[in-house]
Amino acid sequence: MTTAMRPTIIAFASPKGGVGKSTSCACLAGALAARGYPVLVLDLDQNRTLEQWFKRFPDLAGILTVEGLGEGEFMDRLKHHCDTRSGFILVDVAGVYQKTTIQAATVADLTITPSKLSAPDIIEAAKLHRELTHLSTMIGKPILHRVLLNEVSPLWPTYQRAALEDVKRSGVEPFGMVVHQRAPYAEVFLTGQPPHFANRTREPVRKAVDQLDDLTDRILALLGLNEQKAAA
Ligand SMILES: Nc1ncnc2c1ncn2[C@@H]1O[C@H](COP(=O)(O)OP(=O)(O)OP(=O)(O)O)[C@@H](O)[C@H]1O
Ligand SMILES: [Mg+2]
Repeated sequence: MTTAMRPTIIAFASPKGGVGKSTSCACLAGALAARGYPVLVLDLDQNRTLEQWFKRFPDLAGILTVEGLGEGEFMDRLKHHCDTRSGFILVDVAGVYQKTTIQAATVADLTITPSKLSAPDIIEAAKLHRELTHLSTMIGKPILHRVLLNEVSPLWPTYQRAALEDVKRSGVEPFGMVVHQRAPYAEVFLTGQPPHFANRTREPVRKAVDQLDDLTDRILALLGLNEQKAAA
């Protein structure tokens, strides 16, 4: 599906709110922009978290573009951008299960569902995974869906290790890495700086950058993109 001209579409979707969709979308946007890729973020959440963020911090315009969209505008605008842009389009879908969740997952090259290591998040991520698996079978098109374990304590307390067993039993496919709970992620919306554009003399920022670079490498590999092709 991905061609040299068509942008690569990555959707951040979860039937549950507050799992880190907007944060991970902003962080990945920064990581991809730091590698020189053109990045457009489509904000479908009615709270317009990312569009407001973009308006609040004018310096972000030098890194990426964010466009807020209503549910009814999504497919038309996406088609327009696919016809006219290259690089990456990241879609931040509202934290409920709705029409745009299915639309975004169907057209995306990859759908990412962030999930904390807690039962309610894992249950909802697994529900979406089953839904997308059925949909994929019915339409005869692969739908690539990965769970991003987010806000993980680097200390790995016992409850987290138990929750990881739940993840394995749930049938979802997690990335082979996790995103830790760290200040530079939480600061993105306060400072207007995704970790790649924050102060790297701070050790937590360097750790977040390393983690995001690992995630970016895994995403590019999963999509079969070498860097030149993705930048085209
Ligand atoms: N890895 C992380 N480390 C620290 N804080 C985090 C991390 N990921 C997310 N957060 C914090 O968790 C909160 C919820 O994150 P975010 O707004 O990205 O979730 P969301 O899924 O987009 O929520 P909604 O469904 O309301 O749109 C925010 O305060 C954010 O700063
Ligand atoms: Mg959000």
